[in-house]
Amino acid sequence: MLVLGVETSCDETGVAVYDSDRGLLAHNLYSQVKLHAEYGGVVPELASRDHVRKILPMLDQVLAAADIGTADLDGIAYTAGPGLMGALMVGGAAATALGYALGIPVLGVHHMEGHLLAPMLEDNPPAFPFVALLVSGGHTQLVSVAAIGEYELLGESIDDAAGEAFDKTAKLLDLDYPGGPRLAAMAERGTIERFSFPRPMTDRPGLEFSFSGLKTFTRNLIEKHRGDDVLPDEQTMLDICAGFQEAVVDTLVIKCRRALQQTAMQRLVIAGGVSANTRLRTKLEEALAKEGAEVYYARHEFCTDNGAMIAYAGCQRLLAGEKNELVISATPRWPLDQLTQPQSQPQDAI
Ligand code: KG4
Ligand code: ZN
Repeated sequence: MLVLGVETSCDETGVAVYDSDRGLLAHNLYSQVKLHAEYGGVVPELASRDHVRKILPMLDQVLAAADIGTADLDGIAYTAGPGLMGALMVGGAAATALGYALGIPVLGVHHMEGHLLAPMLEDNPPAFPFVALLVSGGHTQLVSVAAIGEYELLGESIDDAAGEAFDKTAKLLDLDYPGGPRLAAMAERGTIERFSFPRPMTDRPGLEFSFSGLKTFTRNLIEKHRGDDVLPDEQTMLDICAGFQEAVVDTLVIKCRRALQQTAMQRLVIAGGVSANTRLRTKLEEALAKEGAEVYYARHEFCTDNGAMIAYAGCQRLLAGEKNELVISATPRWPLDQLTQPQSQPQDAI
């Protein structure tokens, strides 16, 4: 089955074509980072408008790269949520209109299910069951995954998501948007041991996270170490980044090991933007190797938002006969554990 995937939930336009027999045929990603940079964060209305500008040219480009025409498509998948309402509507409208014109099934996909399944696009995909750590700008969740659509939430952040903590801390350090990857790059050059950040909620049982306290800790460090200028000297900045990143990574590693023990599972999948973090990957690999467990993740470009993960996730559900009615589905808030296993829908739905 040849499936077109469309991702427009936030500030990246992603389009891809996935074939259930041949794998990923083509994909393209356009990041709106420059557009939002001067505002220090995503401006929803600007995001929607830019998706409108990019979606059709990118569609043409990806089909050409895959060497196919629209008539070859068997189905279309788009991100139906969670995300920004206006941005979701753009992808949903394009996908639904194209599907209607072509007379093929269209399906709205859960963005986090896309992230969770992204490592399936790699050469050594994880087998079910596994524990997934979903770490993005909006989510930090540990999920027990028995099969596609069989998700049990084990624990999540009670305040900031891990990516959000990276971004907000980066803002305190006056780093340009998007701060997370910039902070991570600076952390590589800092001394981890100079500042000992807390490892929040690791001293008690449970799989919840809390990252908002790390911001306050950083704010106090900046206050203490700043010179004549508003910010501390460069080495101190690098050391703060290193200490902060180590605290987030250690906290995630501790909870992942706990989740594996609790579920008696041997496989961990990490997905979402923060799973691109090199320190997190390395420390998880080291920690899990000692316990005979394995960690799986997608290549860098498929950790952050992309169309390939949506094409893949949608394909699995479209193959089972799932499809939407002729409506644009956009659900800004949508808990992952509300999903069910792929299931057949009435055949006259479109
Ligand atoms: O999955 P994603 O692209 O979008 C959401 O669904 O939220 O994740 C974006 C988040 C941002 O908070 C960004 O700062 C963070 O992922 N991120 C990183 C890294 N790359 C992206 N955080 C830490 N280290 C990185 N290398
Ligand atoms: Zn995402």
